[in-house]
Amino acid sequence: MKPIFTALSLLLLLSGCSPKVLHGQTAARTLELDAGTSRAPIQPTMYGIFFEDINFAADGGLYAEMVKNRSFEFTLPKTGWLEPNTDPFSLNARSGKSDIIKTARDQANVNFLRVTVKGPDYVLLNEGFRGMGVKAGADYDLTFDAAVGAGDIRQATFALIDTAGNVLGQTTVDLAGAERKEYAGTIRSRATAAKARLRVTFTGTGVVDLDMVSLFPRDTWKGRKKGLRKDLVQLLDDMDPGFLRFPGGCIVEGRTLARRYQWKKTVGPVADREYLVNRWNTEFDHRPTPDYYQSFGLGFFEYFQLAEDMGAEPLPILSCGMACQFNTGELVPMDELDPYVQDALDLIEFANGDVTTPWGKVRRDMGHPEPFNLKYIGVGNEQWGEEYIERYKVFNEAISAAYPDIVIVSGSGPFPDGEFFEYGMQQLTDLGAELVDEHYYRSPEWFRENATRYDDYPRDGPKIFAGEYAAQSVAIASPDNKNNWNTALSEAAYMTGMERNADLVVMTSYAPLMAHAEAWQWTPDMIWFDNLESYGTANYYVQKMYANHAGTDLLSVTEGGEPLTGREDLYASAVKDTERKELYLKVANTGREPQRLSVDLKGARAGASVRVLTMASDDLEAVNSFSAPTRLSPVESTVSLQGNTLDVTVPSHAFVVYTFTLQ
Ligand code: AHR
Repeated sequence: MKPIFTALSLLLLLSGCSPKVLHGQTAARTLELDAGTSRAPIQPTMYGIFFEDINFAADGGLYAEMVKNRSFEFTLPKTGWLEPNTDPFSLNARSGKSDIIKTARDQANVNFLRVTVKGPDYVLLNEGFRGMGVKAGADYDLTFDAAVGAGDIRQATFALIDTAGNVLGQTTVDLAGAERKEYAGTIRSRATAAKARLRVTFTGTGVVDLDMVSLFPRDTWKGRKKGLRKDLVQLLDDMDPGFLRFPGGCIVEGRTLARRYQWKKTVGPVADREYLVNRWNTEFDHRPTPDYYQSFGLGFFEYFQLAEDMGAEPLPILSCGMACQFNTGELVPMDELDPYVQDALDLIEFANGDVTTPWGKVRRDMGHPEPFNLKYIGVGNEQWGEEYIERYKVFNEAISAAYPDIVIVSGSGPFPDGEFFEYGMQQLTDLGAELVDEHYYRSPEWFRENATRYDDYPRDGPKIFAGEYAAQSVAIASPDNKNNWNTALSEAAYMTGMERNADLVVMTSYAPLMAHAEAWQWTPDMIWFDNLESYGTANYYVQKMYANHAGTDLLSVTEGGEPLTGREDLYASAVKDTERKELYLKVANTGREPQRLSVDLKGARAGASVRVLTMASDDLEAVNSFSAPTRLSPVESTVSLQGNTLDVTVPSHAFVVYTFTLQ
């Protein structure tokens, strides 16, 4: 055999062909797919969602409030509010004025707007979050607090207007009484507009105080009043996510400790939630968004509720007493850590405690007496160094003592290798950490070359949570990064490696999740939206294909007894779902040639028809967009099984999921 093989190889070499292509005909590669032996259970948490309020993902995004700075609490309290033509001689200025009044009312909502109306032409506008998206025939629910002062102001009219000033719909609300109270109305829009604004005018003259001016689409996720944007949650829900990690990301840490995320300030009545400037507002010179704040209308209760709606495990991440080390790196002294640890303990009580406990009662008062069944809690985001480890130990001890069943998620820093990573991982392993979060924002090549990353990880150390990852087409945090097919295909290839190691890797999530097309700071992102529409990127569809075919048991798929980890551009993993009685074979072909496969199914019998979901494009720069939202998305077909053999051709630059029906 040997001389013949050598002669053939020489012939191929001389003809300039790769070994698998002869006269344009690709030889089939034989894969053995063993459906009989479960190698490991696939955890239901395997494919989940990482949510962070970056890129206007919460206010101006998922949280459907349309009025920016509804309670006048931004640092510049009139941000978002316009009085057209402030020239003192203008008609508007002659017709009225507005002033911010600071009260000592409470800590959270100190400002209101005092409007003095001198004539019918006075106009106040709210610009929304880069405008307001309104749809023809849809209803918008208005609420606001008002107190009528001196004069005879009898009515306020709220109108949605388009950029030309045309009224799209309006409501007039009668006002009465010097007591501050809540008023409500509904505006039905007669047309669709992407950049509407809310115009406020008054009947009568005098003084009126306004606060909490709020406008929401009625059509929210699950029809909840003042709820979440339906299209965006739908995209998330369609993924069948195994968990929802919130609220970030670096936003957990804050640039300074004072500006860290404090969950206790995000629950209870919405009007009492203290505003906080968003840490991403001016983080990058390339995308400053100084008007980026957190109203916390989407707070911890709403995150838990969202996780519950989607059947996902909630995974809150808390500050461990360290501000972002890329910014100030401020540290809470070790002997002052108690309040931070108490926040973690109280959060577990808020989520799971009986309604007779102080924090369980808060949950009940918000309308959820049943526990949220929290199982995981994260200590710190992507901290590194000794300072992290010593703080982690304190949290670990306190949480484990009070709640031994809660799994503590610790972090290995911002990079997947190097000094911080090695140190953190070693320390956490020595401390017996259960689940360690890894982050990697690397090139597409890195993803393709590291599909074997977990093959040699120790099995007696912590389990792995790949909590933030995304292939960067240019460089980390470059504003030129694109969600192109090259990045998504490279992630798909890499993910076969995570899946093959599902005994170790038990949670994974792409990051960041969402971006407003006109207000983002960080790219790439899994989902893009504007005020009217949203679309999933190629990366989203790859995530969805994995999550929708997560399975319950890991199987082995090999070529010549070896796993497929990039040899001649092919990557593969396989799982079966014992409840659905299905088997999912995932194959990524990162090469320029189609690949013929002959898959031998062993250890089970399957129905003749195999469902095929294919994402493929030879244009590696291709992206989805508002005008072509599904350009890169799975295309469905079927193929027949011959006996127990599947003969298929995987297109070039393709990711394919084959679904076998087990008998
Ligand atoms: O996903 C964007 C940021 O990247 C996250 O906030 C942070 O954890 C990471 O550095």
